[in-house]
Order: sequence, then structure tokens, then C-alpha cells
Amino acid sequence: MAPMTAPDLRTALADLLAFYAGAGIDVALGDAPRDRFAEAAREAERRSPLPPPDLPAAARPGPDGPHRFPTAPPPRRTAPVDEPAAAPAPLPPEAAVMAARQAAREAASLDELRAILERFDGCALKTTASRLVFADGAPDARLMLVGEAPGAEEDRQGKPFVGRAGQLLDRMLAAIGLDRTKVYIANIVPWRPPGNRTPTPQESAICLPFITRQIELVDPDVLVFLGGFAASSLTGTRDGILKTRGRWLTYRAGDRDIRAMATLHPAYLLRQPLQKRLAWRDVLAVKRALAERETLQ
Ligand code: URA
Repeated sequence: MAPMTAPDLRTALADLLAFYAGAGIDVALGDAPRDRFAEAAREAERRSPLPPPDLPAAARPGPDGPHRFPTAPPPRRTAPVDEPAAAPAPLPPEAAVMAARQAAREAASLDELRAILERFDGCALKTTASRLVFADGAPDARLMLVGEAPGAEEDRQGKPFVGRAGQLLDRMLAAIGLDRTKVYIANIVPWRPPGNRTPTPQESAICLPFITRQIELVDPDVLVFLGGFAASSLTGTRDGILKTRGRWLTYRAGDRDIRAMATLHPAYLLRQPLQKRLAWRDVLAVKRALAERETLQ
């Protein structure tokens, strides 16, 4: 086969990357960081014909020792002095959930919760995401919306719902006279899953204590779950979103009951625009619930 020319190679690589992107693979990272320099140094040491310098003189080749290696394998050096400390082993899932519960309980304000999340290392998604996507909007909002997890644009900007789905959400809010200065928006999982995959049950279990504490601290009058993932994570329902949406539920936040409704996720509405009529009904019901609360106050 004729060797590939540089332009052919570029085209082949571009095609391969486009294929990966189409399959949702858009990060070249594993879950845990790898120190390839240290790996290469270890491999070079393993292949080296020289025995390590800490062998007794008798075993060393050269003028003051026999030109042979000991029959027993040389003692293995543990971590070379200049090797950087290995990344801490991830917590087992149950321990991570316990740690998350304890950490979230300690937050007395949203600012404290954000700081605690910034320090929390129990969720592996933190290692592949660019940044924490904590929330957007007004901390004293009467309406709080909860989505699934940040996507690529959210990961870049550090704010939830700022991509195409977020722009549709903004239009839905505008239709009932609301904007981001009057609502509070967060996600079940505050770090972007690689390739925008759905968070695993384990990842959502680890992140759940933080969003439940966030809801307690915002203490809204009305809560909206955007999509089936948020609805099932916060209510435990196994029903699909087309069954769950549009019905008033009671969400227990600490010692308070909050009126809650699940609706269709804006990303789903972008793919299924005919379903916007269902979301429109839900949005109007939310508007009425907020107005009813206002007249009661
Ligand atoms: N989808 C979500 O569920 N959350 C975001 O922040 C963006 C897209």
C-alpha cells in the first residue's frame, strides 16, 4: 500500500474525529488523571540493563564487583523520589454518598454550599469537567427549576442552561413574564458528564445530597423538574416523563412541603417540537400556582 501523504493523513484524522464526535466522544480523558511522564520513567527503569544503584558493591558490575547480576531479582524500588504523588484513590460509592450527605448538611448558605462543592472530590465527574456549574438566577426566587447535568456550553461558561436548550428555556420563562433575575436554576449533577452522557445512578446518588440541600436553602414556592432524570432523581418515581409531567406533586424539603411539577426537558422539546404544546400547559400551570401563592401572601 502506498504511504499516505500528509493531506490524506489530515483528512483521515479529521474523519476519525468527526466519527468520534458523532458518537458523542468529545473528550480524550479517562476518569482519573494519568502521569505519563512517571509511567515512561518507570518503564525505562524496568527495561534498563543496569541494576539499581542501591545494590551491594559485590552485585554491581564494574571494577569493584563481579560482571554478573545477582540471581535473585533486584529489590524493587518503591516510588522514585521525584515521582509526583499518585492521585488519591476514588472513594467507594457508598462512602462518597455518605461524605456528600455530611458535607451538604454543613452548608448554612448557598455560598457555603458552593464552596463545599468546589472542595468535594467524591464524584469522578469533577475530574473530566472543566468547572463546577452550580446555579444561575436569584437565590431568593419563588420559582426554582432543576435540570439534569451541564452540557458543553454550560461547562465552558460555568452556568446552567446557557446552550440551545437553555435559550428555549429562557423563551418559555419569558412567555410567563419571568427571566433569570426572577428564577433560580440548577442541575441534579453539577459537573458535565463526558460526551453529555446521562449521569450514572452512582453519580446522581453522590450529587443528590447537594441539590436537595440547595432546594432547602433556596426554599422556593414552586419547584419545576426539567425532564425525567430530574423528576425521578428527586421524587423516586420510575414512571416516564410523559406520565409524570403536568401533575402537581409535593416535594418535601427539610420540614417544608413545596409544590412541584415535572415538565418536558427543553432539549427534548428541541428534538420533538410538537410536544411544546404539553410544556406550554405546564408552564401556564406554574404561572397560575405562583399567582395563587401571591394572593395568599
Ligand atoms: N441540560 C440540563 O439538564 N442542564 C443544563 O444545564 C443544560 C442542559
